[in-house]
Amino acid sequence: MAIRNIVQIGDDILTKKSKEVTSFDKRLFDLLDDMRETNLAVGGAGLSAVQVGVLKRAFIVEVLEDKENEVEPFFLEIVNPVLIDSKGEQISEEGCLSIPEIFEYVKRPQEVTVEGYNRHGEKIRVEASGFLAKALCHELDHLDGILFTEKVIPQEQ
Ligand code: CO
Repeated sequence: MAIRNIVQIGDDILTKKSKEVTSFDKRLFDLLDDMRETNLAVGGAGLSAVQVGVLKRAFIVEVLEDKENEVEPFFLEIVNPVLIDSKGEQISEEGCLSIPEIFEYVKRPQEVTVEGYNRHGEKIRVEASGFLAKALCHELDHLDGILFTEKVIPQEQ
Protein backbone atom coordinates (compact mmCIF):
# COMPACT_ATOMS: atom_id res chain seq x y z
CA MET A 1 0.00 0.00 0.00
CA ALA A 2 1.04 3.56 -0.55
CA ILE A 3 -0.08 7.05 0.28
CA ARG A 4 -1.03 8.86 -2.91
CA ASN A 5 -1.10 12.58 -3.60
CA ILE A 6 -4.51 14.18 -3.21
CA VAL A 7 -5.48 16.29 -6.22
CA GLN A 8 -6.19 19.87 -5.22
CA ILE A 9 -8.83 22.29 -6.49
CA GLY A 10 -7.78 24.01 -9.69
CA ASP A 11 -6.80 20.71 -11.28
CA ASP A 12 -9.16 20.02 -14.21
CA ILE A 13 -9.47 16.33 -13.39
CA LEU A 14 -11.77 17.17 -10.46
CA THR A 15 -14.39 18.47 -12.91
CA LYS A 16 -14.34 15.34 -15.09
CA LYS A 17 -16.82 12.48 -15.07
CA SER A 18 -15.31 9.23 -13.83
CA LYS A 19 -15.71 6.02 -15.84
CA GLU A 20 -17.42 2.78 -14.83
CA VAL A 21 -15.13 0.15 -13.37
CA THR A 22 -15.16 -2.92 -15.61
CA SER A 23 -12.33 -5.00 -14.12
CA PHE A 24 -12.47 -6.02 -10.48
CA ASP A 25 -8.81 -6.89 -10.38
CA LYS A 26 -5.64 -6.30 -8.41
CA ARG A 27 -5.30 -2.84 -9.92
CA LEU A 28 -8.65 -1.92 -8.34
CA PHE A 29 -7.69 -3.55 -5.00
CA ASP A 30 -4.44 -1.57 -4.93
CA LEU A 31 -6.30 1.64 -5.75
CA LEU A 32 -8.85 1.10 -2.96
CA ASP A 33 -6.16 0.08 -0.45
CA ASP A 34 -4.12 3.16 -1.29
CA MET A 35 -7.22 5.35 -0.97
CA ARG A 36 -7.83 3.95 2.53
CA GLU A 37 -4.25 4.56 3.55
CA THR A 38 -4.25 8.06 2.06
CA ASN A 39 -7.53 8.97 3.73
CA LEU A 40 -6.32 7.65 7.10
CA ALA A 41 -3.06 9.56 6.79
CA VAL A 42 -4.88 12.87 6.44
CA GLY A 43 -7.86 12.11 8.69
CA GLY A 44 -10.49 12.44 5.99
CA ALA A 45 -14.12 11.31 6.10
CA GLY A 46 -14.12 10.02 2.54
CA LEU A 47 -12.20 9.95 -0.69
CA SER A 48 -13.06 9.34 -4.34
CA ALA A 49 -10.70 7.76 -6.88
CA VAL A 50 -10.64 10.98 -8.90
CA GLN A 51 -9.09 12.69 -5.88
CA VAL A 52 -6.00 10.53 -6.29
CA GLY A 53 -6.04 11.20 -10.03
CA VAL A 54 -7.87 8.07 -11.21
CA LEU A 55 -11.10 8.60 -13.18
CA LYS A 56 -12.84 5.45 -11.96
CA ARG A 57 -16.27 5.33 -10.34
CA ALA A 58 -15.20 4.26 -6.86
CA PHE A 59 -15.03 5.87 -3.44
CA ILE A 60 -14.57 5.12 0.21
CA VAL A 61 -16.39 6.71 3.13
CA GLU A 62 -15.60 6.46 6.80
CA VAL A 63 -18.25 4.89 8.97
CA LEU A 64 -18.00 5.50 12.67
CA GLU A 65 -19.10 2.65 14.86
CA ASP A 66 -19.86 3.43 18.47
CA LYS A 67 -19.02 0.29 20.38
CA GLU A 68 -19.87 1.44 23.90
CA ASN A 69 -18.02 4.73 23.68
CA GLU A 70 -15.07 3.32 21.83
CA VAL A 71 -15.54 4.86 18.44
CA GLU A 72 -13.88 2.82 15.77
CA PRO A 73 -13.84 3.90 12.15
CA PHE A 74 -14.04 1.52 9.25
CA PHE A 75 -14.36 2.20 5.57
CA LEU A 76 -17.20 1.42 3.29
CA GLU A 77 -16.03 1.16 -0.30
CA ILE A 78 -18.43 1.34 -3.22
CA VAL A 79 -17.62 0.73 -6.86
CA ASN A 80 -19.95 1.98 -9.62
CA PRO A 81 -22.34 3.50 -7.05
CA VAL A 82 -25.82 4.62 -8.06
CA LEU A 83 -28.20 6.71 -5.98
CA ILE A 84 -31.42 4.68 -5.89
CA ASP A 85 -33.55 6.69 -3.49
CA SER A 86 -33.39 9.75 -1.26
CA LYS A 87 -35.65 11.28 1.39
CA GLY A 88 -35.83 14.46 3.40
CA GLU A 89 -33.12 17.05 3.67
CA GLN A 90 -30.32 18.23 5.92
CA ILE A 91 -28.20 21.34 5.78
CA SER A 92 -24.78 21.02 7.32
CA GLU A 93 -21.15 21.99 6.93
CA GLU A 94 -18.97 20.14 4.48
CA GLY A 95 -15.32 20.11 3.66
CA CYS A 96 -13.23 18.25 1.13
CA LEU A 97 -9.66 16.95 1.09
CA SER A 98 -9.25 18.56 -2.34
CA ILE A 99 -10.35 21.98 -1.05
CA PRO A 100 -8.32 22.61 2.11
CA GLU A 101 -9.57 24.83 4.90
CA ILE A 102 -12.91 25.62 3.26
CA PHE A 103 -16.07 24.58 5.09
CA GLU A 104 -19.48 25.60 3.82
CA TYR A 105 -23.12 24.68 4.30
CA VAL A 106 -24.66 22.35 1.75
CA LYS A 107 -28.14 20.83 1.44
CA ARG A 108 -28.26 17.05 1.12
CA PRO A 109 -30.94 14.39 1.53
CA GLN A 110 -31.39 13.13 5.10
CA GLU A 111 -31.66 9.52 3.93
CA VAL A 112 -30.27 7.79 0.87
CA THR A 113 -30.14 4.34 -0.65
CA VAL A 114 -27.09 3.63 -2.79
CA GLU A 115 -26.42 0.50 -4.80
CA GLY A 116 -23.12 -0.54 -6.26
CA TYR A 117 -20.47 -3.22 -6.02
CA ASN A 118 -17.77 -4.20 -3.58
CA ARG A 119 -14.18 -4.72 -4.78
CA HIS A 120 -14.98 -8.31 -5.71
CA GLY A 121 -17.78 -7.27 -8.04
CA GLU A 122 -20.56 -8.40 -5.71
CA LYS A 123 -23.65 -6.20 -5.61
CA ILE A 124 -24.13 -4.18 -2.42
CA ARG A 125 -26.88 -1.90 -1.17
CA VAL A 126 -26.36 0.75 1.49
CA GLU A 127 -29.12 2.56 3.36
CA ALA A 128 -27.81 5.55 5.24
CA SER A 129 -28.97 8.63 7.09
CA GLY A 130 -27.43 11.73 8.62
CA PHE A 131 -23.66 12.10 8.30
CA LEU A 132 -23.21 8.96 6.21
CA ALA A 133 -25.97 10.01 3.78
CA LYS A 134 -24.24 13.36 3.35
CA ALA A 135 -20.85 11.73 2.84
CA LEU A 136 -22.23 9.34 0.21
CA CYS A 137 -23.80 12.25 -1.72
CA HIS A 138 -20.55 14.26 -1.53
CA GLU A 139 -18.57 11.35 -2.97
CA LEU A 140 -21.22 10.54 -5.62
CA ASP A 141 -20.88 14.13 -6.80
CA HIS A 142 -17.10 13.74 -7.13
CA LEU A 143 -17.65 10.91 -9.63
CA ASP A 144 -19.62 13.33 -11.80
CA GLY A 145 -17.05 16.11 -11.49
CA ILE A 146 -19.09 18.15 -9.01
CA LEU A 147 -17.53 19.81 -5.97
CA PHE A 148 -19.46 20.84 -2.85
CA THR A 149 -18.40 24.45 -3.39
CA GLU A 150 -20.84 24.55 -6.34
CA LYS A 151 -23.71 23.81 -3.95
CA VAL A 152 -23.03 26.19 -1.09
CA ILE A 153 -26.00 27.68 0.72
CA PRO A 154 -25.12 31.21 1.87
CA GLN A 155 -25.52 31.66 5.63
CA GLU A 156 -26.93 34.83 7.19
CA GLN A 157 -24.27 36.74 9.07
CO1 CO B 1 -14.58 15.75 -1.42
